Amino acid sequence: MASLQASCILFAKPSKLFTYHSFQVSCNAKKASSQDVETSQGRIDRRNVLIGLGGLYGASNLVSNPLAYADTVKSESEKCTDPVKPDFKNCGTAYAENDPLNINCCPPDSDNIIDYELPRPPQRLRVRQPAHMVGKEYIAKYEEAVRLMKELDKTNPNDPRGFMQQANVHCAYCNGPHEQVGHKGLDFQVHESWLFFPFHRWYLYFYERILGSLIGDPDFALPYWNWDHPAGMTMPPIFDNPRSPLYDAVRDPNNRGSAVVNLNYTSSEPTNDLTLVANNLRTMNSEMITSVNNTLQFMGAPYCDGSNPRPGMGTSERGSHTAIHIWVGTKDKTEEHKYNEDLGNFYSAGRDPLFYCHHGNVDRMWTIWRELDTPVRKDITSPNYLNAQFLFYDENARLVRVKVADCVDQEKMGYTYQYMPIPWLCYRPPKEEAEAKARIMKKISDIPNVAAVLPITLKNTVRVLVPKSAKGKVSEQLVIEDIERDTTKFIKFDVFVNDEDEDFEALDRAEYAGTFAQVPHRTKNEKSKSSISLDLTQLYDNIDVTDDDTIVVTIVPRSNGEDITIGGIKIVPASSESNDDY
Ligand code: C2O
Repeated sequence: MASLQASCILFAKPSKLFTYHSFQVSCNAKKASSQDVETSQGRIDRRNVLIGLGGLYGASNLVSNPLAYADTVKSESEKCTDPVKPDFKNCGTAYAENDPLNINCCPPDSDNIIDYELPRPPQRLRVRQPAHMVGKEYIAKYEEAVRLMKELDKTNPNDPRGFMQQANVHCAYCNGPHEQVGHKGLDFQVHESWLFFPFHRWYLYFYERILGSLIGDPDFALPYWNWDHPAGMTMPPIFDNPRSPLYDAVRDPNNRGSAVVNLNYTSSEPTNDLTLVANNLRTMNSEMITSVNNTLQFMGAPYCDGSNPRPGMGTSERGSHTAIHIWVGTKDKTEEHKYNEDLGNFYSAGRDPLFYCHHGNVDRMWTIWRELDTPVRKDITSPNYLNAQFLFYDENARLVRVKVADCVDQEKMGYTYQYMPIPWLCYRPPKEEAEAKARIMKKISDIPNVAAVLPITLKNTVRVLVPKSAKGKVSEQLVIEDIERDTTKFIKFDVFVNDEDEDFEALDRAEYAGTFAQVPHRTKNEKSKSSISLDLTQLYDNIDVTDDDTIVVTIVPRSNGEDITIGGIKIVPASSESNDDY
């Protein structure tokens, strides 16, 4: 057990995690006894997780072994030569699914663009608190700020600081009204690439400053939805009060109140809260740690001047991030809400105040990831990333131009996150039993070889034999190539390795390798193909395939499988490809 703990400790430098601490985080501090792991096979873990739902720091004896699964993005893009640049002048029709939308979400234009300089960081950083823990006084301030922002829509609908104008910023950068400067027909798109984290960080930054200025409080900070902790795994109550300006009626009524979020959302959800919470912790651990063996796998693929939009999502974007959008958005499919509004479609997501709280935690994941002390974590150094630009309106309604380079360090932007324990940091699934492995190997004769079935549409679960790149103790990754899907639909599949089960509800199993999920969005550019790779290094440790020369890969469609076609499935040596070449 000692070595499991040691390997977990490698992943966190507790003292560095946040500047505003109330607890120390480390797997050491969790004081897990080795018996918990050896004997409980998860049972004790789950009970503690449930206690956590009651508001305690329940996951305290979830011990870890960073199991391995790694999702990655493989860039289709040629080498970049220049960063991407937006132009508000060049803004037209927005789309959802296949339809041009009957709304104009272009921000007001202006010839007066100011190159933004970050103000000197305040003496005391603005502290973003977990939304389920905020006090009365804070709630009153926050509600007042959002109320005033909504007021602006009435007094001056063209005020760029107004609530709808702010929501439209998201539509403008996501649903295809913009083209890249100098590239007719190529969208400026901030999802599915390495711009995902930086864009949303800047977006929240200005939104937060606008709210603060409306109530005359420069210390005002947005709350974050702590959905990665069992205590925060329901909709934060402050957003669920119909009398509050933070409320939005266009949400899924089944997912209010005490409903537990599903970070691995599919339309057929596990009904058992225990399974949900365990799956959630497992999903977090996968997308933040075990699945990631290089920076771009987490951040997203390179996207620059002249690139095709949507080169590939990072693990967090396509995992927990997508899941929350879909989980909250309405499913009513009436004419008025046929695109899963509000959170379930990018054009309308910003109309729900909860969006900014959700993205607070998404942003916090970038912060946590940068603090994880793993050899694979390295900030992107390419000038094509650092010099990528966005335009926003600031709290004084000035049009400003910002650069990615200025948002990498959030403290320079003047804010931090209130520390919360990170229960998934050291989470690990139960190990596969030896007999299970023996059983699957016996069954192998009825499983087709991968070469015989490709390309394949995910109408049903796909189970294929895939040759390993080498025998013995090797580090390998599973590459799923040419994933062609309908971008206008909610798409999702999960991947398992050497899994002999037919029941894929529980994800906290050694055989779970990773996921692919996409929020529906339509832009002018047609279907995209992308690839992911899932690191298997640590998964192999758990299921022991050292002596085998093939593994069994199972792909389980979770949503709209008939609209997903997979062109290639192969195993290659693991790489920690550097990001410096883009
Ligand atoms: Cu820009 Cu969560 O979306």
